[in-house]
Amino acid sequence: MENQRNILLEAKNITKRFGGVTALDSVNLNVHTGKVNVIVGENGAGKSTLMKILSGVYPDYEGQLFLNGEEVSFGNPKDAMKKGIAIMHQELNLIPYLSITENIFLGREIHNTFGILDSKEMLKQTKSLLERLDCHLNPKTLISDLRVGEQQLVEIAKALLEEAKVVIMDEPTSAISDSEVESLFRIIDSLKKQNVSILYISHKLDELFLIADRFIGLRDGKTVGTIENVEGATKDDLIRLMVGRDIKNKYEKDVVKLGDDVLSVENISLRNVGSKLKYIIKDINFTLKKGEVLGIFGLMGAGRTELLETIFGLHSKVMSGRIVIDNKEVKIKSVADAIKNGLGLVPEDRKEDGLVLQMEISKNTSMASISGVVKNGFLNHKLETELSKKYIEALKIKTPSEKQLAKNLSGGNQQKVVLAKWLATKPKVLFLDEPTRGIDVKAKNEIYHLINNLAKEGLGIVVVSSELPEIMAISDRILVLSNSKISGEFNQENASEENIMQAATL
Ligand SMILES: Nc1ncnc2c1ncn2[C@@H]1O[C@H](COP(=O)(O)OP(=O)(O)OP(=O)(O)O)[C@@H](O)[C@H]1O
Ligand SMILES: [Mg+2]
Repeated sequence: MENQRNILLEAKNITKRFGGVTALDSVNLNVHTGKVNVIVGENGAGKSTLMKILSGVYPDYEGQLFLNGEEVSFGNPKDAMKKGIAIMHQELNLIPYLSITENIFLGREIHNTFGILDSKEMLKQTKSLLERLDCHLNPKTLISDLRVGEQQLVEIAKALLEEAKVVIMDEPTSAISDSEVESLFRIIDSLKKQNVSILYISHKLDELFLIADRFIGLRDGKTVGTIENVEGATKDDLIRLMVGRDIKNKYEKDVVKLGDDVLSVENISLRNVGSKLKYIIKDINFTLKKGEVLGIFGLMGAGRTELLETIFGLHSKVMSGRIVIDNKEVKIKSVADAIKNGLGLVPEDRKEDGLVLQMEISKNTSMASISGVVKNGFLNHKLETELSKKYIEALKIKTPSEKQLAKNLSGGNQQKVVLAKWLATKPKVLFLDEPTRGIDVKAKNEIYHLINNLAKEGLGIVVVSSELPEIMAISDRILVLSNSKISGEFNQENASEENIMQAATL
């Protein structure tokens, strides 16, 4: 029996429907005081929905919530905050044209004794919050000038401002670097010491073992069990809790015969305008063959994303170097040029560059490959539907139909739609920037197989990933970036975690 006094927050028989979709089906959850309560489950299992109910984002649902044994209900997130429940959302909820400080204090501004906004105090507090996270950003920086990982840190800082009793973290580490993860985990430890309860969600199973006190499994909107004794638990136990059975967790790449060169880049550089560091990337050279999967590894800030973006025409004014596709030099000055020349890019930040949230899955899927769904000059709805159905099936996108709006999908399923959109363009060369961010352990394997199959069809593929085991499993060859340059190259024979890490820190 659980000791009643250990339970700070309790959800009883929670059901939540969105139209015809039952996201939560009579879920029960106990949140233990001063513990890290980890929720695991596949993409679309209902994790974020449950967190939104606990934090007042969704005021209407069936069932009951109890805080310290007393029934509560929240009309909005502010209500929940007043009772000590803070949430850090999976989708970053920051306002791009405001600064870090303005975002953190939005709706809870500090005024001085004269009733005037106390900017100095707010800046000071923001600075110290960021310092707790070992983050040295200027608090006046606009959100739109930050990378995804940096935005995630701001979201974390925002939740830490309140003296919360329960802190909900929905995939807080999906985009931050290892050292930032360490700072976050130190903060979690100190919150625990102050008896704060943490609800934690992540698809990075290895990191969970570093902080979890207990695991709670959600599957298809139902609670399916808990693991209370984490000491003896293994990754396989966790996977079984999520998926309901054992799955082969080890992906093995099929050998693909490499064809001719499809892409060569020569002396690609990207200038850093107005900064002391002159170049973000400098003199990068590589050649990619048809059927080849080239992995790009580097620590955060090494220039991985920028390298892909530069070749893709996103920084044409400040780049230099030659790009050769199918033995012909090409000039890529815009995304349109890139697509025309057979390049595709699945971006790192899906919300910003990848998806139109207000549009249907089918529209999102066909968006970058309109010529494939046009017949006699008109958009052909049948072709469009067929295209999106094909990818819903191939990527196992969890949705009632292709007509569902992208914004109504779970985080991981949105990521799959972005992948589908670019796969549909049938490029010659596909750039994938962190393709499995936010994707559950089972779906990851499906995406690896899909990448392998595309390579078999003759596509050249370049993958950026910050997960070493992933990049080692899927690539034929790995380039390591460090300090704006290529600092190492490895093949299947000589790639090891140690070698790659060493090159990344050169
Ligand atoms: N606003 C909405 N309208 C319609 N359906 C929704 C809405 N929000 C969530 N859903 C559906 O509810 C289910 C649960 O979604 P939820 O976002 O809670 O999943 P999750 O466990 O957080 O997944 P992920 O790991 O991908 O983030 C999914 O099938 C999703 O499509
Ligand atoms: Mg989610």
